[in-house]
Amino acid sequence: MQMDDFVRKLRDRKAIAAGTQKDADGQHQKGRLTARERINLLFDPDSFNEIDTLVTPRYDSYMGGKGSRYGDGVITGFGLVGGRQVFAAAQDASVMGGSLGEMHANKIVKAMKMALSYGCPFVALNDSGGARIQEGVDSLGGYARIFDANCESSGVIPQLSVILGPCAGGAVYSPGLTDFILMTENSYMFITGPEVVRSVMQENVSQEELGGGRIHATESGVAHFLSRDDKECLLKVRELLGYLPSNNQSDPPYVPPRDDPERRCPELDELVPVDPQKPYDVRRVISSIVDDGRFLEVHELWAQNMVVGFARLDGYVVGLVANQPMVLAGTVDIKASLKATHFIRICDAYNIPIITLQDVPGFLPGTSQEYGGIIRNGARLIYAYSEATVPKLMLILRKSYGGAYCVMSSKGLRGDLLYAWPNAELAVMGAAGAVNILFRGEVKAAADPKARSAELVSEYQEKFNNPYVAAARGLIDDVIEPRDSRRVLVRALRVTLSKRDRHVPKKHGISPM
Ligand code: HXC
Repeated sequence: MQMDDFVRKLRDRKAIAAGTQKDADGQHQKGRLTARERINLLFDPDSFNEIDTLVTPRYDSYMGGKGSRYGDGVITGFGLVGGRQVFAAAQDASVMGGSLGEMHANKIVKAMKMALSYGCPFVALNDSGGARIQEGVDSLGGYARIFDANCESSGVIPQLSVILGPCAGGAVYSPGLTDFILMTENSYMFITGPEVVRSVMQENVSQEELGGGRIHATESGVAHFLSRDDKECLLKVRELLGYLPSNNQSDPPYVPPRDDPERRCPELDELVPVDPQKPYDVRRVISSIVDDGRFLEVHELWAQNMVVGFARLDGYVVGLVANQPMVLAGTVDIKASLKATHFIRICDAYNIPIITLQDVPGFLPGTSQEYGGIIRNGARLIYAYSEATVPKLMLILRKSYGGAYCVMSSKGLRGDLLYAWPNAELAVMGAAGAVNILFRGEVKAAADPKARSAELVSEYQEKFNNPYVAAARGLIDDVIEPRDSRRVLVRALRVTLSKRDRHVPKKHGISPM
């Protein structure tokens, strides 16, 4: 045989391995891209290197199954994203619904282990009906090995799961163990599909209602990002990777800033209403302060009373955690605690300094919160802040009441440099509530209870609701003018970046919340 023949045979096999995910008339199935098109969008042009192209599944797995023989329904390999090495696996739904058999799992685990040993992020492009039924326990064993590799890699290399089709069973638990889940409007995640729900629970529910991207982005909080389609989603993956280090021993990519680090922000003098009852959008404060106003919000549609996300300050990546007065008056509830806890764990594991912006009237009270375990879940937030050894900067914009003051990056939890604006109110609770508890009898007995109450409220405000008592005790490091926020935080960041216990081999995994 001539070399040409050998090469032709090799090319034939690789072409089969590539899969199609297209209908007979060449249209994309349900508007989704093929596994290879997805890989091409994720990686820098012509940088992807496929491995294990010629792996074949056990013969038995083809009982009743359709699809390509070579590659076993998943593309694995490595390439460059924004010039940095990244490993990936992309499931091909045209091969038995992207289901996971033994060799399919072997390929993924092999790529994950390589990513871990070379300290590169791992991106899984998921489109899978879960364990391949024909391969029985070999598929289940494959999932167990993937889960184990997920846990071993957790907190060491960034792991991103991208959900681009219907994903069920094991295909959702591996993503559940990773750092970020990105979904499209046209993708689904559920532990069992609508058919099983109907027969076991007698509940009629569509795929969208059970586990559509929008449901997971708004209701369950399983999805951290929601995109319209595959293309937008894969661009988001590239953007997100730009804020993460390759591994926990390195720093996130530094981008020399074009934005002046000493820039004043006069708009902040007016942005926050003095009246503590009036809401405003804390994201406007964030975009005023950070480089070029660019903020990548995580969990944008879930637990919106807490805002978290990445930005750059003076070119360095920072994680922002901020109360959102526009939603539930910025109170902290169970979902907000879990959202912030997960984000803080990510920042701590990957050497990303945390900047907390406080405007918080406290934890949300009531039976639904108590029954849901606000005590246990709020405690997670304390634990995460306390354990974090990255720089922790904090700025109080207005209210800083009660437990939420203590929890959110306070000095007691080893917050590094803490600042407050002059209108900040640091107190156990708001003036009206405090007067009601402390002076109920006196107000009742007064000739004009309303007037006496107003008098006491104003006295309380004068005495306690300001930043100066905290500043006098050293509980905050300075009171600053709003317009100076950016330059003050830049300077604080520069001095704290050398924090000694910032880099350690593996601090902790990112346990699912
Ligand atoms: C083998 C599968 C498969 C599977 C789908 N297919 N899932 N083959 N094993 N798990 C095949 C179908 O037979 C079909 O083959 C093709 O993939 C496309 O499937 P459709 O059903 O036509 O697609 P769609 O309508 O888009 O529905 C997708 C789906 C549905 C919602 C994912 O296929 C489904 O419900 N699959 C089963 C999901 C499930 O319950 N998995 C749990 C596995 S248990 P043809 O030849 O017709 O094209 C598990 C345990 C892990 O994962 C434990 C972890 C803790």
